[in-house]
Amino acid sequence: MENWIDKINAADSLEELEALRIAIFGKKGDLAKAFANMKSVPPAQKPVVAKELNQLKNSLMKAYEAKKRELEARALEARLASEAIDVSLYSPRPQSGALHPVMTTMDRIIEYFSSMNFSMETGPLVEDEFHNFEALNLPDYHPARDMQDTFYFKDGKLLRTHTSPVQIRTMMKQKPPIRMISPGAVFRRDFDLTHTPQFHQVEGLMVDEKGKVSFANLKWILEDFLHTMFGDVDVRFRPSFFPFTEPSAEVDISCIFCKGEGCRVCSRTGWLEVLGCGMVDPNVFKAVGYENVSGYAFGLGVERFAMLMHQIPDLRSLFEGDLRLLEQFQ
Ligand code: PHE
Repeated sequence: MENWIDKINAADSLEELEALRIAIFGKKGDLAKAFANMKSVPPAQKPVVAKELNQLKNSLMKAYEAKKRELEARALEARLASEAIDVSLYSPRPQSGALHPVMTTMDRIIEYFSSMNFSMETGPLVEDEFHNFEALNLPDYHPARDMQDTFYFKDGKLLRTHTSPVQIRTMMKQKPPIRMISPGAVFRRDFDLTHTPQFHQVEGLMVDEKGKVSFANLKWILEDFLHTMFGDVDVRFRPSFFPFTEPSAEVDISCIFCKGEGCRVCSRTGWLEVLGCGMVDPNVFKAVGYENVSGYAFGLGVERFAMLMHQIPDLRSLFEGDLRLLEQFQ
């Protein structure tokens, strides 16, 4: 019996100790057997033997409890070690997304014109020749209708080459007065440093009774708009031509890079062209069935604004999805 103590002390795992517990203290264990054997001990010796047995039982119990505490502490330590978390480990911040610079630029443009009470209109990207060309006074023979510039579908439909067809759609479903802008994607067969086959425009249109909308109104709002977008720049209107406006103008701002001195970006002219505009051509009003009205229209390229506002030299880099570029706009 005595070597049980050694065995308990030598136990190396809780399982081993449990097996010993059953063998020693169990119902059919050695102690139970020893107590049962008391029957055969002569009565005179019983008190001595019983005392010895009880002492043995107590010391076995003590050894067992001590071993159990030791093994449990060891198991706990092992578990803590295996589940340890290294709080000093480097953890990267979660990446947060951001709007594309073209979209934030678009938002700023929209914000300006909504503050001036312009409504927002949209139109389909797949257009027909009537809305994209014909109603805008772009006759059949006009070079803009050439396959070279326009993406055509087999059924004669096309990807809109500008947002101007939304002028037509809005006038055909609404009566004047109209004061609207229309932002959206447009498509042209073009690809170089300053052109991508898809880009974005914001169209503007204001129509009211004849005499109520003048070129002076157009000039005022575009000047105010360009000052809001680009700050303290000079603005100039240059006579130009668009089939759907008469008279027409292109609008320049003084170069924001060289302050009008002349540099590479402005081709040494000191000016940057930023939009096209004019008074709506009478033929356009005729096409949508409007009479006795006057109006102005303008159109601008959002990428061009984004490039100038963020000083991005290559337009194509906006669409390559390179995070090194895009992350600068978070
Ligand atoms: N639609 C013209 C373009 O894409 C821009 C424009 C719009 C010019 C409205 C005048 C008036 O170049």
